[in-house]
Amino acid sequence: PHAHLAELRRRGPVVQVDPGGMWLVTRYDEAQQVLKSASLFSSQGLRLTAQPPWLQRVNPFADSLLFLDPPQHGRLRALISRAFTPAALAQLEARLRGVVRRHVADMMDKKHVDFVDAFAMPIPATVMGWLLGLDASLQQHFMRWTHVLVTMNGVQPEGAVEMERQHRTLDEMERYFQGVLDERRSAPRDDMVSDLLRARMDGVALTHHELMSFLFLLLVAGLETTVNLLSQCARVFFQHPELLLRLRKDPTLIPRFVEETLRYEPSVMSTLRLCTQDVTLAGVELPQGALVLVSLASAARDEKYFPDGDRFILEREGPPRLSFGHGAHYCLGAMLSRMEARVALEELVSRVERLELRTEHIDWTTSLIVRGPVTLPVEVFA
Ligand code: HEM
Repeated sequence: PHAHLAELRRRGPVVQVDPGGMWLVTRYDEAQQVLKSASLFSSQGLRLTAQPPWLQRVNPFADSLLFLDPPQHGRLRALISRAFTPAALAQLEARLRGVVRRHVADMMDKKHVDFVDAFAMPIPATVMGWLLGLDASLQQHFMRWTHVLVTMNGVQPEGAVEMERQHRTLDEMERYFQGVLDERRSAPRDDMVSDLLRARMDGVALTHHELMSFLFLLLVAGLETTVNLLSQCARVFFQHPELLLRLRKDPTLIPRFVEETLRYEPSVMSTLRLCTQDVTLAGVELPQGALVLVSLASAARDEKYFPDGDRFILEREGPPRLSFGHGAHYCLGAMLSRMEARVALEELVSRVERLELRTEHIDWTTSLIVRGPVTLPVEVFA
């Protein structure tokens, strides 16, 4: 997609791909401007992907704070920010390291593994399982569920099969989360679900639908994104084996490596907004109701700030990245997923000397919003 995005970036900062269709924001300054102006550019745009008119069923995810505008957005967001404080993260980190070590050892024993299945998926799935208090043996299902949800692009599926799959997934997720809520009601634990059950907004407990929306949001936002980040780190190692050795020698470079991976191959490719009124952006007139697709992947290679953007450069400087968004909806899990990636790579590079891709062809999850490899068959060298 990067060559195509570069071509669109040359056409201008705000371009309409198809006549009458949505607008694409291709450059950094304009992307940042849209994301910080929630009153002009509403997250109702993104909501259309999760609750398109043809779905004929309520999708609880679509009523989560990700898709709401201020001020309602902020009131809901405040209820879960406690789970992401530095103290909470430090506790998770200590617990996570042991789990990561076991996965690294397991990969080294097997030598030939699917990196997604053996490493990139179980790490974030374990963390989300802890945060929400979910059954670890169901990780494959969590992945399947979030996958269906993030690939809902707001485009009506062609066959009845896909539509049926979406409905079945939403049913399954609701049934499972209902069980989790029931369990926590009778036996509260130290997890986010119990916190949410205790939470009050203006003295009133959250409704069933609000609780469900939180669970959908946290699982979906916290899983697929971080899986893709870890998979993309592995892809950088395939392309630049020398970088793995550099990180092995100097693990303090790992956070930089993670940031550059997030720029080079962002897990969240874009986000969508809806113009609440007629607005002029970079000289382009956008009518009220226009859909604006903010390409985070394109902004991350904007020549103005990221020269030679198609190259992975560990020492790269530049303005704050937009990989985790910007403004009111800035990712709540940014520090968490950075921590997960850092711990994962610290343990990986301390034991593994080289990772080689063992396929000519990678299948991609392609959605309007996220992108990542479905599987990555690798050989592990110690
Ligand atoms: C929002 C990216 C991991 C929870 C966002 C947004 C982006 C993003 C771009 C803003 C979307 C928008 O403005 O429309 C990422 C990336 C991740 C990641 C690239 C990993 C590499 C996580 C994790 C969690 C999480 C691990 C939670 C455990 C959230 C939540 C929001 C959000 C709750 C909504 C915030 C709001 O609407 O105020 N994320 N995310 N994310 N993310 Fe993440």
